[in-house]
Amino acid sequence: MRHLGLVLAFLVACNGSDTSGNGECNTDNEECGLGQNCGGEDINMAPGSDCMACHDGSDNEAPAWTIAGTVFDDLNGSNAVSGATVRITDTDGAGTPIEMTTSAAGNFTSTAAIVAPYTAEIEVDGVVVAMAAHQTDGSCNSCHACGGSAGGKLHTP
Ligand code: HEC
Ligand code: HEC
Repeated sequence: MRHLGLVLAFLVACNGSDTSGNGECNTDNEECGLGQNCGGEDINMAPGSDCMACHDGSDNEAPAWTIAGTVFDDLNGSNAVSGATVRITDTDGAGTPIEMTTSAAGNFTSTAAIVAPYTAEIEVDGVVVAMAAHQTDGSCNSCHACGGSAGGKLHTP
């Protein structure tokens, strides 16, 4: 199910939901859950969704990620950002940081083992925005959502 047409239709739909400028948070895909078809089955699927609602090993078809999420250009999730670096480091600093680059839809995933708790940062052109808190849950969008405990979407510096 990796038809280019589907991907293009999806990206167009994504642009169509652009909320930049109107001050409203982009809740697209936040209600997407296990057993639902939210569109797409690849790295650009369902940006903004709580990826591990499905990718936690409970769905035989969806590979289990240790880390996944979506990067936007602001807390409201106005526009997805591709090519941003997401860096995860365990709090002890013992492990090598895990680095991911966001896809066309702003998504990133990893299957690398993380030793929780971890810290996280997002980098674009050498500028970094970092999370002060230490976390254990690798599904970033579970907190980084419009009404989420992180106060909004993952965003670039
Ligand atoms: C509603 C459940 C659901 C949600 C939420 C979801 N996915 Fe998926 N995802 C799937 C399913 C089902 C597949 C298809 C697996 C297959 O059959 O190849 C898939 C496939 C993928 C694949 C391709 C995996 C492979 O090896 O072929 C990637 C990458 C992916 N998803 C990333 C994400 C990301 C990133 C998020 C969050 C932004 C996300 N998914 C949210 C269900 C989901
Ligand atoms: C359990 C909830 C939770 C999870 C899971 C979580 N975060 Fe956070 N994140 C927060 C909170 C709360 C803040 C704001 C306070 C702070 O900076 O620690 C935050 C802040 C951030 C910031 C700084 C944003 C800013 O505006 O300064 C970044 C970057 C970030 N998180 C990245 C990530 C990434 C990447 C992941 C997934 C690997 C992740 N977070 C998972 C709760 C979470």
